Amino acid sequence: MNAVTQNWVMIGTLEDIPRLGARCIENGETKIAVFRTADDRVFALEDKCPHKNGPLSQGIVHDGCVTCPLHNWVISLETGAAQGADEGVAASYPVKLDGDKVLLCL
Ligand code: FES
Repeated sequence: MNAVTQNWVMIGTLEDIPRLGARCIENGETKIAVFRTADDRVFALEDKCPHKNGPLSQGIVHDGCVTCPLHNWVISLETGAAQGADEGVAASYPVKLDGDKVLLCL
């Protein structure tokens, strides 16, 4: 049996996150961007592009990805991995919905 304790924290409701946008959460020194897709799925990535630390929370959400506002790298919301020929991975965090409550695992 897996004895790992997961720390799910309620960070707000789905309505607090703009559709096709993000809301940022501070966790100590780390800024985490929680994204909402057009079909109301939620994903959480560190708010730091793997290219040059651009603020992914200010990017455009589309097709399960976010496009970084600085140099247009496309980052998978699910894995944090850069798409196409670009290489790098943003840290991702488990996030889930309980009704309309958004729970982030820290
Ligand atoms: S910092 Fe994100 S694409 Fe350059």
